[in-house]
Amino acid sequence: MTARDRWRVYKRVCVMFLLAVLTLTVVQRGSVSPGPQFQAERQARPQAAPAAARQKRGLYSGTGNFWKVNKQKLESTTEAPRITEDRVAHTWDVTTTNCTANLNFSSTEWFSGLEPNFKQFLLYRHCRYFPMIINHPEKCSGQIYLLIVIKSIITQHDRREVIRRTWGKEHEVDGMKVKTLFLLGASSNEAEKANHQKLLEYEDYIYGDILQWDFLDSFFNLTLKETHFLKWFSTYCGEVSYIFKGDDDVFVNVQNIFEFLRDTNIKNLFVGDVLFKAKPIRKKENKYYIPQALYNKTHYPPYAGGGGFLMDGTLARKLYAASETLDLYPIDDVFLGMCLEVLQVSPVKHNAFKTFGLVKNKSSRLNKEPCFFKSMIVVHKLLPPELTRMWNLVNSDLICAQKVEIL
Ligand SMILES: *[C@@H]1O[C@H](CO)[C@@H](O)[C@H](O)[C@H]1NC(C)=O
Ligand SMILES: *[C@@H]1O[C@H](CO)[C@@H](O)[C@H](O)[C@H]1NC(C)=O
Ligand SMILES: *[C@@H]1O[C@H](CO)[C@@H](O)[C@H](O)[C@H]1NC(C)=O
Ligand SMILES: *[C@@H]1O[C@H](CO)[C@@H](O)[C@H](O)[C@H]1NC(C)=O
Ligand SMILES: *[C@@H]1O[C@H](CO)[C@@H](O)[C@H](O)[C@H]1NC(C)=O
Repeated sequence: MTARDRWRVYKRVCVMFLLAVLTLTVVQRGSVSPGPQFQAERQARPQAAPAAARQKRGLYSGTGNFWKVNKQKLESTTEAPRITEDRVAHTWDVTTTNCTANLNFSSTEWFSGLEPNFKQFLLYRHCRYFPMIINHPEKCSGQIYLLIVIKSIITQHDRREVIRRTWGKEHEVDGMKVKTLFLLGASSNEAEKANHQKLLEYEDYIYGDILQWDFLDSFFNLTLKETHFLKWFSTYCGEVSYIFKGDDDVFVNVQNIFEFLRDTNIKNLFVGDVLFKAKPIRKKENKYYIPQALYNKTHYPPYAGGGGFLMDGTLARKLYAASETLDLYPIDDVFLGMCLEVLQVSPVKHNAFKTFGLVKNKSSRLNKEPCFFKSMIVVHKLLPPELTRMWNLVNSDLICAQKVEIL
């Protein structure tokens, strides 16, 4: 079967499944209970970024050293001696789910005052690892220059599809391999499970790029996706130089990642849209609300927006060891910031990572300006049709002035 034939078969199966889903949805309407209220949503995080911490001017002042990173920051990047790399097995060693609610504190006053989603989080916080439903141990063998890992959910077939065809396409540049993987949990909703799991398995049969674990793919479980990936990486990956980790609704310019890495020689590289001194959000309506009982410090450690960041493979192993020393925290990118703090590694902020959007004003035409995208590493957020359009524009013979500034 050629790739083209497979693609045709895949398309046909997709259409058939969609029809089946539609039919089932119509038939089951009224009998299907709504899924848990905290199912994963992928949205911008408008409140999380203190505006003052985000420089907008002077992005390209001195284009010559645009990709260079501030030296002082690099020198402060040291590594704590107390965390040592664990020796891990070379297979996924979790094969059963044994996760019962921890009722130790369920009668305490502070617990009963919490919102239901925090209660659920705390009751299952100690369940750290789950079995794998779909695994690809072979994916990480040999030398890989850049491993792209993308957080996705079972229903987002179209986002994965467009990523495979655009920035996530596996390729090789001068012998440096780029590989792509998608990270998924299990569906929280029975109807979805029945209809989409088979389709996901077929998708994986065609592309072989899905990692799926048997935990509920909920917003608060995104941290599990982080820790499961770090464990998976430490288990199966041999020689991976760098990892780009991001969301499935971002635009990424892999060529710029290569250029950036060529000019960088940082030990413990962790670079992204870093927030310094971000405050925990205490407004209950906010998606990122955190009660005092869960985190009582005034600031988070520095952390990179989870929409897209770059780290080196050696650091990823250390992060796995560090993650094992901490309690899980419901916000995945903050949790990673906590792990970096344990390692005494400072994440580096770089202006080419725009995980909170290109410019604040969402209706601004700059958010659609291909020349900005051409000079960025990652931009949040672009859905499949826009992503395809922007990809085609950026990869056409687009002529951009050398110096552009974000207003
Ligand atoms: C599951 O965990 C409980 C409590 O931690 C333990 O008593 C039980 O033996 C475990 N079951 C399995 C199958 O591991
Ligand atoms: C609950 O408390 C007991 C006794 O303090 C402790 O041994 C156990 O590990 C706790 N359970 C969890 C899941 O933390
Ligand atoms: C995370 O996943 C586990 C396993 O599916 C589930 O028991 C737990 O309730 C989930 N936690 C949240 C906060 O959704
Ligand atoms: C913050 O939480 C820690 C650990 O839960 C606790 O030891 C400490 O007393 C708390 N501090 C404040 C000011 O509440
Ligand atoms: C956002 O940009 C649009 C289009 O450029 C403009 O019309 C609008 O006034 C701007 N809004 C704000 C709040 O700056």
